[in-house]
Amino acid sequence: MKVGIVLGSVRDGRAGEAVANWVAKGAAGREATYELIDLKAFDVPLLTTNTHPMRAKKSYDDERVQAWSDAIDACDAYIFVTPEYNHGVPGALKNAVDSLGQE
Ligand SMILES: Cc1cc2nc3c(=O)[nH]c(=O)nc-3n(C[C@H](O)[C@H](O)[C@H](O)COP(=O)(O)O)c2cc1C
Repeated sequence: MKVGIVLGSVRDGRAGEAVANWVAKGAAGREATYELIDLKAFDVPLLTTNTHPMRAKKSYDDERVQAWSDAIDACDAYIFVTPEYNHGVPGALKNAVDSLGQE
């Protein structure tokens, strides 16, 4: 089983990076395989496409969305390392999740 550790904050100087690295270090060597997935590295654009992500069938026009899709689709389970911004998840993480469908 592959577990994605999704780092959901993309700010410069984010505290989440140290937390995600700490989680990855603690997870290493356990039964499953763990991979740190840093949302910032994918530069997922704002969802503006006319195609509903559920209908895209994991095939996207934008290569940044496709790379994000491939990384998420390769995992069986996820650990989300995310700050709370105004009592919700960061907009970048919400947008990235909304941008995918069947994954
Ligand atoms: C825009 C913004 C909104 C925030 N809103 C909340 C909040 O609603 N509740 C909370 O407990 N902390 C809030 N915080 C504090 C962050 O959760 C905390 O600083 C966190 O470590 C930031 O993670 P990051 O550095 O990875 O972005 C907020 C921080 C920012 C920048």
